[in-house]
Amino acid sequence: MKQKTIAVLTSGGDAPGMNAAVRAVVRTAIANDIRVLGVHRGYDGLIHGDMIPMHLRSVSDIIQNGGTALFTARSPAFMTEEGQKQAVDTCKKFDISGVVVIGGDGSFRGAKALCEKGIPCVAVPGTIDNDIACTEYTIGFDTAMNTAVEMVDRLRDTTESHNRCSVVEVMGRRCGDIALETGIAVGATCILVPEIAYDFERDILNRMEFTSKTGKHHFIVVVAEGVGHVSDIAKQIEAHTGIETRPTVLGHVQRGGSPTLRDRVVASQMGYHAVKLLHEGRSGRVVIMKDNKIADLDMAQALEMKRPFDDELYRIAMTISI
Ligand code: ADP
Ligand code: F6P
Repeated sequence: MKQKTIAVLTSGGDAPGMNAAVRAVVRTAIANDIRVLGVHRGYDGLIHGDMIPMHLRSVSDIIQNGGTALFTARSPAFMTEEGQKQAVDTCKKFDISGVVVIGGDGSFRGAKALCEKGIPCVAVPGTIDNDIACTEYTIGFDTAMNTAVEMVDRLRDTTESHNRCSVVEVMGRRCGDIALETGIAVGATCILVPEIAYDFERDILNRMEFTSKTGKHHFIVVVAEGVGHVSDIAKQIEAHTGIETRPTVLGHVQRGGSPTLRDRVVASQMGYHAVKLLHEGRSGRVVIMKDNKIADLDMAQALEMKRPFDDELYRIAMTISI
């Protein structure tokens, strides 16, 4: 019987742990006598046939690295009918019978489009944002938060020395998970997330005043991107309180760095599961975490789901972070 070939690509914003997922895909495929091609720069590489055969040693010494050894891209060309047709032609030319797509929900939509055009795909959630409704966890989230915590701890040192207020923006696109968990972990006085409309007086001024009255004279305000400009919020705080306030945008540092144990392990489990699905002839599936276990779900159904916000965790933060 002819040896089966699958391809693996990373797409959208990179996330620490993507390398561990690619490594798991390659090694699980080889263990099941499946040939693997590593596609460069996400869907762009699929359009242009930019891919290389992967062996056991192609993925040695990458599990500890941030970024993605396959490179990634946001591919406007793949959003077009023509681009997708070219990608399908490439898959046929290289005899690819399945593609593992590692990325965020945008990349999942691309995988769905490929499936609809007859190329079996399985998607693996890789994004620091943890913003994919169908899964409790996305690869990269833990590392990004640990980086954010380290950075805010550093900020606290100088904020405390000067009795200042620091307003810190963390990433997350339209999702407040990084802000919420980081905020709890650094003991932020205020945490602003896009899921909950904030009131300047109630959620910032009153909390700072209470903190101050009870004897603490420096303040950390963690703001998720998508809530508003931290420099505007900082100016507003300084104008109302007279407390020197500095804005900081953590930015892309949150996307880099060596993945944490959690990201390496989850990525390994998810990559393994993805190949098992393709091996069993199951496509159009998304690998997910549910009740802390690896599972899978229909791709179309997964993309329809709405993301719940953890109100309980937010309440805990508001109670103890003061
Ligand atoms: P992420 O995967 O991190 O959410 P993007 O939203 O930028 O990142 O998506 C990554 C890539 O996936 C896009 O550049 C595009 O090539 C592809 N993609 C996104 N949405 C679609 C769609 N609706 N149809 C086809 N391809 C899509
Ligand atoms: O999706 C990951 C992410 O880092 C978001 O948190 C952020 O909004 C976006 O990507 C930034 O994208 P870019 O790398 O294109 O600036």
